[in-house]
Amino acid sequence: MSYHSIFRPDLFSGQTIIVTGGGSGIGRCTAHELAALGAHVVIAGRDPEKLETVRQEISRSGGSISACVCNIREEAQVQALFAQVLAARGAVHGLVNNAGGQFLSPAETISLKGFTAVVETNLTGTFLMCREAYTHYMHAHGGAVVNMLIDHGRGYPGMAHSAAARAGVENLTKTLAVEWAHAGVRINAVAPGIIDSSGLEKYPDYVKKEFLPLVVQDIPYKRMGTESETAAAIVFLLSPAAAYISGETLKIDGAYSLWRKTWVIDDHDNAPDAYDGFRDNLTP
Ligand code: ADE
Repeated sequence: MSYHSIFRPDLFSGQTIIVTGGGSGIGRCTAHELAALGAHVVIAGRDPEKLETVRQEISRSGGSISACVCNIREEAQVQALFAQVLAARGAVHGLVNNAGGQFLSPAETISLKGFTAVVETNLTGTFLMCREAYTHYMHAHGGAVVNMLIDHGRGYPGMAHSAAARAGVENLTKTLAVEWAHAGVRINAVAPGIIDSSGLEKYPDYVKKEFLPLVVQDIPYKRMGTESETAAAIVFLLSPAAAYISGETLKIDGAYSLWRKTWVIDDHDNAPDAYDGFRDNLTP
């Protein structure tokens, strides 16, 4: 396997783990790392071509992987996904609810359709995935779930819809941690800050070339995070090392969410070196 993980190579052997949005960005990176650690990874997403590309990448590097087309907003498709995975594998030990998305817009120009689409993808889709994982497998066998947030703790000007949805996911994570504890289900979340992910590609040029470099100056670490740094946090939360952690959110943001203008941080290059274990990283 080409992934250079810091975790033990057989950490997830014998496990089946679903990663939604596994066809690109952080989801793809996480799928690569989990496969390198012995899991059978099921990547789910809407775009069959992207899924097939990642399926081939992981197969080529010796990983065990399958791909399922699924729109997580559609209840019947989520149910079909679990039926298919359980018929083929007999188990779902882990679930990474990475799929999601949003677009930049001032709140006053977000249409009802746009707002609903973002909430349905990020919040309702995550709920459906959690519920089906629980009712079809984890209520009887336990399991670990990791949900994807953004840095929404102080709201998120320019992404009102996504911040509202992700706050909902964070709260859902806390509720389910308690409701499902008796079944041995752990459920946590990660909140990446500014990550140098292929997901940035879909934003307009001015965002990437002008706006992001300005934002990076406000990150105490003075750099963006990597996909691998995010995947490592997800892998940790899925692993037995996190056996006593549930209902929590782990921020991966170089302390960005804590920074405010009362403290000037001059340019420096003393942040810990970026961890990038993903040799097939596609970020520019
Ligand atoms: N990635 C982004 N939106 C998605 C959706 N609705 N279903 C699955 N993957 C997605």
